[in-house]
Amino acid sequence: MSALRVEDLNVHYGTIHAVQGVSFSVGEREIVSIVGSNGAGKSTIMWTLAGVVGRSGGNIEIFGERLPRKPHEVVARGLALVPERRRLFTPLSVEENLVMGAYRRKKGKDLQDDMERCFQLFPILKQRMGQRAGTLSGGEQQMLAISRALMSRPRVLLLDEPSLGLAPIVVETLMETILRIRGEGMTVLLVEQNATQALEISDRGYILEAGRFQKSGPGPELARDPQIIKAYLGG
Ligand SMILES: Nc1ncnc2c1ncn2[C@@H]1O[C@H](COP(=O)(O)OP(=O)(O)O)[C@@H](O)[C@H]1O
Ligand SMILES: [Mg+2]
Repeated sequence: MSALRVEDLNVHYGTIHAVQGVSFSVGEREIVSIVGSNGAGKSTIMWTLAGVVGRSGGNIEIFGERLPRKPHEVVARGLALVPERRRLFTPLSVEENLVMGAYRRKKGKDLQDDMERCFQLFPILKQRMGQRAGTLSGGEQQMLAISRALMSRPRVLLLDEPSLGLAPIVVETLMETILRIRGEGMTVLLVEQNATQALEISDRGYILEAGRFQKSGPGPELARDPQIIKAYLGG
């Protein structure tokens, strides 16, 4: 059974047909990436999965069940989005941001345990607990955004351009972390514009162009495809 199955997804913004009949699946514990240039429709797919943007057609299933259309219901089914540009609560502390991520649940020991799990992935966040999120470095903000999503105890993690604005060395660490998160049993859907590293760590990848998939295949294979490098990977 697929963790996530998307069939013939269509999304419109008024007359703009942003996503045009996209179908894909993400197997349990797979890392799948969707790669495409600016405006291809990557974020629209993510926001639609998260229930924030409405779809004009198509079916979405999570672990064989129809995905609800309201954001809080989507989170309850185990889907968590780390949005593009992170969208942290910047005036709030690291701790407060993490608590927000667990808003569906009550406080107490569970919350503490979940925070500890985040600190195991990102030890620096423990030292930054009382610091305002807006004062963190770009890399630390991305760690916090991922942690905030993990606080909802998702089964499927959606990452929209997590490497945006990060130094290459930080991106490398981030990719290793994504592999670790998958290693702990998570299913990951990753969207990236700067895509070589994303494809390298992905089991499978899809190339999105103007709202349609042009090509798909094993991630590392796509990352080394000369045609793809020329068209999408800035080679
Ligand atoms: N809120 C919106 N209203 C109208 N058009 C939008 C909106 N958001 C995105 N679009 C358009 O939809 C297309 C896909 O955008 P987006 O999903 O953000 O692409 P990507 O994330 O791949 O850069 C673009 O043409 C963009 O201009
Ligand atoms: Mg985007």
